[in-house]
Amino acid sequence: MRAQVDDHHPDLLTVIEHLVSSGGKRVRPAVTLLTGEMLGADPDRLVILAASIEMLHTATLVHDDLIDGSLLRRGIPTVNAQWSPAATVLAGDYIFARAAELAAQTDSVAVMKSFAETLATIVNGEITQMFASRGVSSRDDYYQRIYAKTASMFVLATKSAALISQSDEVIVDRIRQFGYEIGMAFQIVDDILDFTGEQQEVGKPVASDLRSGLVTLPAIYYREDNPDDRDMEAVLRGEFSSDGRMKRLVKAIRRSGAIQRALEEARQYVDRGFEYLEQMPDGVERQALFELGSYIVDRQI
Ligand code: IPE
Ligand code: IPE
Ligand code: MG
Ligand code: MG
Repeated sequence: MRAQVDDHHPDLLTVIEHLVSSGGKRVRPAVTLLTGEMLGADPDRLVILAASIEMLHTATLVHDDLIDGSLLRRGIPTVNAQWSPAATVLAGDYIFARAAELAAQTDSVAVMKSFAETLATIVNGEITQMFASRGVSSRDDYYQRIYAKTASMFVLATKSAALISQSDEVIVDRIRQFGYEIGMAFQIVDDILDFTGEQQEVGKPVASDLRSGLVTLPAIYYREDNPDDRDMEAVLRGEFSSDGRMKRLVKAIRRSGAIQRALEEARQYVDRGFEYLEQMPDGVERQALFELGSYIVDRQI
């Protein structure tokens, strides 16, 4: 990820360095590396592929934080906290381009195709979320939304690793399904942490989804169980201005059974993913993928 093109603007190189050194959990490239190793992919191509996927993820975060007006990520200021919107858009584009360049280095047209499809899915999801009427959200809308923004990239992370490993179609399809299930779980847990996490640990502002009118699974369940909650109705009507009301609602959701229900659902996704994983070649990589699946539901950051 750090490999640089020397004659490009030094600020672009600085921004990539800044983002790469800020770390992040690196869950997606871990999934790619383990999947590829498990299926016998060439290690050099696999490393490039994993770097390309993490780059793609990084680029989406740069644009996402600009869109969401988020000033903090991974415990440090975002690009848009320091640069103008125009410069942030360009920096994100640059990182997308570098990601595509890495993907092309795998020499697999199938990988390039999946890469492009995934990016289209993510952008389509973001636009849909942006243009949707705020507030009201059905569970089906929610699942579509989290598939687009998160699970699609976990699908890419698993499927593309299988594609460069000469696995047959059945294997590609099963591991893709595993990626889908853990990706859905990953986003549900992210949405839970927005309610239950501490900013210090999560590295980004918490209780921010509802504040921006975004209704996630814990809020959907809370609403199902408490249809007459006045605070919830006000928030859904777009009255986000009263901070007292918002704090009270977030507290009520935290204390309710909605968090447990959402967590239980994330666990079910991971368990379904495990059924696909069980059909993969046995070994240390598969074991590590089982552990990674468990980490996805148990994590606190
Ligand atoms: C953040 O992803 C965006 C989501 C899809 C939730 P991660 O939680 O994987 O972010 P980093 O890379 O570890 O910072
Ligand atoms: C980020 O989505 C996922 C994408 C990059 C499309 P969110 O806006 O929900 O995630 P956070 O909370 O900023 O990480
Ligand atoms: Mg965001
Ligand atoms: Mg967003």
